[in-house]
Amino acid sequence: MDKKIILSGIKPTGIPTLGNYIGALRNWRLMQEDDKYCYYMVADLHALTVRNDPAELRQQTRSMAALLIACGIDPNRSPLFIQSHVHQHAELSWILGCVTYMGELNRMTQFKDKSAKHADNINAGLYTYPVLMASDILIYGADLVPVGDDQKQHVELARNIAIRFNNAFGETFVVPEPVMPKFGARIMGLQDPEHKMSKTDTNPNGYISMLDEPAVITKKFKKAITDCEPTIAYAEGRYGCNNLLTIYCACTGKTMDEAVKEFEGFGYGKLKTAVADAVIAELEPIQAVYRQYMDDSEELDRIIARGAQQASERAQITLDKAYKAVGIR
Ligand code: TRP
Repeated sequence: MDKKIILSGIKPTGIPTLGNYIGALRNWRLMQEDDKYCYYMVADLHALTVRNDPAELRQQTRSMAALLIACGIDPNRSPLFIQSHVHQHAELSWILGCVTYMGELNRMTQFKDKSAKHADNINAGLYTYPVLMASDILIYGADLVPVGDDQKQHVELARNIAIRFNNAFGETFVVPEPVMPKFGARIMGLQDPEHKMSKTDTNPNGYISMLDEPAVITKKFKKAITDCEPTIAYAEGRYGCNNLLTIYCACTGKTMDEAVKEFEGFGYGKLKTAVADAVIAELEPIQAVYRQYMDDSEELDRIIARGAQQASERAQITLDKAYKAVGIR
């Protein structure tokens, strides 16, 4: 049986939130099944598209790698690597850029959003960001790419690039498909439950960082915005309540029906405490493993170096194929 190849990446910008964990990282762990082979990557090159502090990037890249292991990515099973350690990505990106139309890149909503947000630094890297991402994906022959809904458009572009290249130069790339998490794709902000939880929220009470201490988690849930309804229910328009219930289910494995039944006749006080406890139970063990790897930098270095070697061997095969296809070798 041919294993499905999975590739996903996360930028090392800041500590991921509970939303990133439930919507993405937790699924990365769960995808490591016998019929799949997963590559997981810290996308440090992509982090350069906004002005960055070098020391901070270095630190956050290591920290993200440690956190991925702590989330249950098993480096003995799934190569875990830093994007820039595999030089082939940037090389393939040039070739792919030559079969990508500006019209396509102009349509990318993330580019439009980021250009508006960083109007003083609309650089070419921000523009060609999706081409590098296509390279990340196509270089491993990934069949499936787990992403949040904000990245789906980029995976679709990678598909189109692969198909166009194959048509022009012969079968070279596997045509990838995005996979969206079945559950918990959208964890909303605690202070503004109509918008996605974001680590760039100016109010830190709006999000749970994966490294928040238990007391902080409890405090943030206590302050979470809900509504004035007397009962706990999962219902249209009850954004805050729905979000707390969703988080509760995601962290306990309970179904929505079970959760709603559990809180029947109780108010928000009980729900908030229960959610906070469930989140703490989920995050505390992750935080402990994270600290262990951050304290043992040699072990972390070893894992990352091995990941880069495994990834690079695979990447080189695709890169050679692509060079040959276009007539460069
Ligand atoms: N652009 C993705 C994000 O911001 C991160 C990323 C980079 C990625 N390369 C990738 C995700 C390849 C999936 C596949 O979340």
